[in-house]
Amino acid sequence: MASIKTLVQSQDLKSLPSEFAHFKDTQESIRTGPEVSVPVIDFSLLSSTDPDERAKVILDLGKACEEWGFFLVVNHGIPENLISALFNVCNEFFDMPEKEKLQFENKHPLYPVMVRSGTIDGNDSNQKVKLWRDYLRFFVHPEYHCPTKPKALSDIVLEYSRRTRDLAKKLLGGISQSLGLEEDYIEKAMELDSSTQIFAANYYPPCPQPELAIGIPPHTDPGLLTFLLQNGVEGLEIQNKGKWFQLTGIPGAIFVNTADQLEIMSNGKYKSVWHRAVLNNKKTRMSLVVANGPSPDTIVTPAPPLLRETPAAYGPMKYMEYVQVQRSSRLNQKPTLDQLKLH
Ligand code: OGA
Ligand code: NI
Repeated sequence: MASIKTLVQSQDLKSLPSEFAHFKDTQESIRTGPEVSVPVIDFSLLSSTDPDERAKVILDLGKACEEWGFFLVVNHGIPENLISALFNVCNEFFDMPEKEKLQFENKHPLYPVMVRSGTIDGNDSNQKVKLWRDYLRFFVHPEYHCPTKPKALSDIVLEYSRRTRDLAKKLLGGISQSLGLEEDYIEKAMELDSSTQIFAANYYPPCPQPELAIGIPPHTDPGLLTFLLQNGVEGLEIQNKGKWFQLTGIPGAIFVNTADQLEIMSNGKYKSVWHRAVLNNKKTRMSLVVANGPSPDTIVTPAPPLLRETPAAYGPMKYMEYVQVQRSSRLNQKPTLDQLKLH
């Protein structure tokens, strides 16, 4: 199908085309949640030489993971000009002619490149209602599979992936300690030297009836920690104690959320948080996402040191297998994480 971007540009849409009607009538229609601020973590304190300062930020990290599963990272050290170059070049990608973009679609059995509109993942034929979103997604580690156009894309994403990999490793060091484990516990157990990183750019054009459509329906992410940047337009919602909340960003800060393998590894202490992307009728929203996971071959299980007093709550699964099961079953079946729950 044509991209949502083309659809919006080519027609003066007064109402939502029916194939995008995720909700049938105004009774069912989506109500965006009240705005909420999630905890803010000052990343620079994690390398503080003052033990009290470091202990405090580790405590804050643990609390943020346990109570929200979502936090904002400030002072992360990723240069502002790298982030703005990344937004610019991703915008250029979405601006390319449809045919040129689709050339980069690639059905690699392990590391596919996806250029999609209106769907979640590979399982297009099972999806009845289309999503109001265009996206580009590809693997950046341990193998790098980036489209070759726009020309600057590859270098910029490569640099961003290096920086975020480092950030993920250090945050996971703090998170390890917040669980009472050695600082390098997660790094070793999840074999982060060959960690799996997936980069995605999500493009949500203004929607004529945002309350009837959705950008991404409720889901949890695969991996350990997901990083998200947005172009200053809000639309990310998370579930907390059964209610939906819309998150307010801070310019330059990175949203971080706990994902499925962190829930498994922490034996359920840090829950993988449900979230969704909602729409608006005024502005284009873009989000740039990096999913940071274990190495493709790591068999993820609850950390044995956490099982001294509690039984394991999840069975084992190789990470890449998990990603593939999730890719083919998203939206259709029980969440992949539930399939691993032991009781
Ligand atoms: C995702 C995601 C939310 C957003 O890509 O997994 O949850 O706001 N995105 O784009
Ligand atoms: Ni997500």
